[in-house]
Amino acid sequence: MDLSGKSVFLTGGAQGIGRAMMQALLEKGAKVMFCDIQQDRGKATEAELQKQYRSDDVIFRQCDVTDSKQLEAAFQAAVTKFGAVDICVNNAGIAHETLWENVIAVNMTAVIRGSLAPFAPIPVYAATKHAVVGFTTSWAKNPRMSEMGVKWRALCPGFVDTELLHTSDDQVTDPVLWKEIVQQHPFMKPPELAQAFISMLEDESSDDVIFEVVAGKGSYRKRQIVDPDGKSNLLTVD
Ligand SMILES: NC(=O)c1ccc[n+]([C@@H]2O[C@H](COP(=O)([O-])OP(=O)(O)OC[C@H]3O[C@@H](n4cnc5c(N)ncnc54)[C@H](O)[C@@H]3O)[C@@H](O)[C@H]2O)c1
Repeated sequence: MDLSGKSVFLTGGAQGIGRAMMQALLEKGAKVMFCDIQQDRGKATEAELQKQYRSDDVIFRQCDVTDSKQLEAAFQAAVTKFGAVDICVNNAGIAHETLWENVIAVNMTAVIRGSLAPFAPIPVYAATKHAVVGFTTSWAKNPRMSEMGVKWRALCPGFVDTELLHTSDDQVTDPVLWKEIVQQHPFMKPPELAQAFISMLEDESSDDVIFEVVAGKGSYRKRQIVDPDGKSNLLTVD
């Protein structure tokens, strides 16, 4: 897909991966309406990106994705502003094993309504992300989607250096094990993941649905963990 001039709606764009994805999309000439629960941070990100790019091309709207009315209104605002939404990115997510009902509401229910790599000490988080993989695959296999020209993709990153990983002890089931696991894995920076996101969007030749992106030694592996035939492939991206 040529991203120039495309309109994007993205959730959770105030910081971290969402913000890096927006920046990468703006670099490609796309326009972005983004929402986030954090009003001040969202406004600050909007101001910074508007200074860097065309101010009409990046707009923030405060919204809690677990509130169906707010989410619908934010999406509708993007349709009204841009005429249509070409790409919808359900990025907003949290990790907090004590507040597990919130995790399900943000990571799963909101994604389902609006329509990334599991690890051991955060089982609820992992469950919500697996649900999103199943949900996305199911839509992608629906023949009505290709008839309408709609494509479904899920980008499943490994460890990315954002606030989400800087957890307090009550956010995980086993803080000691969690710290060990985090230390063993190389981290990606959000802009590096955003580049993999852009490659995924621009790749017209592929019918792959689920993209796993993990930091390797000196390079990134883009691993297709599920495809329409149920086979797995291992691809390398520079
Ligand atoms: N950081 C990683 O290692 C990693 C790895 C795999 C997947 N992910 C996923 O990537 C996505 C982005 O995570 P991140 O690492 O940038 O985390 P982050 O905490 O830096 O950013 C998440 C953003 O979502 C927003 N948000 C949270 N709850 C919201 C709500 N109810 N309504 C609207 N916005 C809300 C936050 O305010 C924040 O701006 C999440 O879905 C996360 O699960 C992250």
